[in-house]
Amino acid sequence: MIDWTDRHCRYFHRQLSPHAVLYTEMITAPAILHGDQERLLGFSNAEHPVVLQLGGSDPAQLARAAKIGADAGYDAINLNCGCPSDRVQQGKFGACLMAEPSLVADCIKEMQNATGIPVTVKCRIGIDDAPPEIMLRKFVENLVAVGCDMFIIHARKAWLKGLSPKENREIPPLDYKLPALIKHEYGVKVILNGGIKTVQHVRDHLEIFDGVMIGREAYQNPWFIAELEHEIYQTPLPCRLKILEKMCEYMTERAAQTDTHSGTPIKSITRHMLGLFNGMAGAKTWRRILGGEAHAATNAHDFIMPLAQQILSHNREG
Ligand SMILES: Cc1cc2nc3c(=O)[nH]c(=O)nc-3n(C[C@H](O)[C@H](O)[C@H](O)COP(=O)(O)O)c2cc1C
Repeated sequence: MIDWTDRHCRYFHRQLSPHAVLYTEMITAPAILHGDQERLLGFSNAEHPVVLQLGGSDPAQLARAAKIGADAGYDAINLNCGCPSDRVQQGKFGACLMAEPSLVADCIKEMQNATGIPVTVKCRIGIDDAPPEIMLRKFVENLVAVGCDMFIIHARKAWLKGLSPKENREIPPLDYKLPALIKHEYGVKVILNGGIKTVQHVRDHLEIFDGVMIGREAYQNPWFIAELEHEIYQTPLPCRLKILEKMCEYMTERAAQTDTHSGTPIKSITRHMLGLFNGMAGAKTWRRILGGEAHAATNAHDFIMPLAQQILSHNREG
């Protein structure tokens, strides 16, 4: 998720769930071709399975960017056809591509030919006032024809004019029925996305779909990821202290790394961990201290572990 997630967030989420498939935020093909590839694409081995999400609409450019991603070790490539922001529309990528299924098919074909790893698509159910039951079918049909067999569907329309990206994640109503029909009619894998916030939601959707993608709830309430791992894969719930020990080690390692020109500041990692104690006594203190002290801290362990121990002993949890 642009501006929210990054490699450090994924590393943290991986500590909470060994099984979840993690995605990068959308990175545009031109950025990869002309930008700092180590900074944009670098990741830790621990993050696998990890998927690179690309933005773009030029088949040749996307193919080159996808190849760079595959060579960097990503497990799959995903093309973003769901982002409604103005900036993205100007570059002719994101959700506006739902109106150009044959161009998207060309992009997918080129990316498949260039990589040899799975190439998937993330889309909405439609855009603007086009009827979704027609637009989504036409879109999927064109991509199935070139061998694309997995779709992550954010189950609401995007309105390209008049709604902000934030409003476009909240106002258009969710429709989980159409993605289910698409799965059935085209025999493709469908990963459902949009508004999924509880273990029970996930259980219900997994009766029908091949998977779920969770955005905001996973970021804002990371313990939800551990609960899901526990419920779905019967993995024992992890210990928050052990996770934090691991994160402190990671912070020390990253501070010493020079692959991004200078070491990673502690606050760039702790910012993803602010919600770890959500719902527990002390959650606000955690958020305040981690958000504040992390700016000046040079040794993460010294301020993170005593605080976490205090919160957990208060809540009588390990
Ligand atoms: C800050 C922010 C940035 C996002 N950036 C991306 C992105 O880069 N790529 C993408 O496919 N979706 C992006 N999304 C959308 C989410 O992936 C997801 O589709 C949407 O939030 C609905 O799912 P949710 O209800 O589980 O959050 C972003 C969402 C937020 C809140």
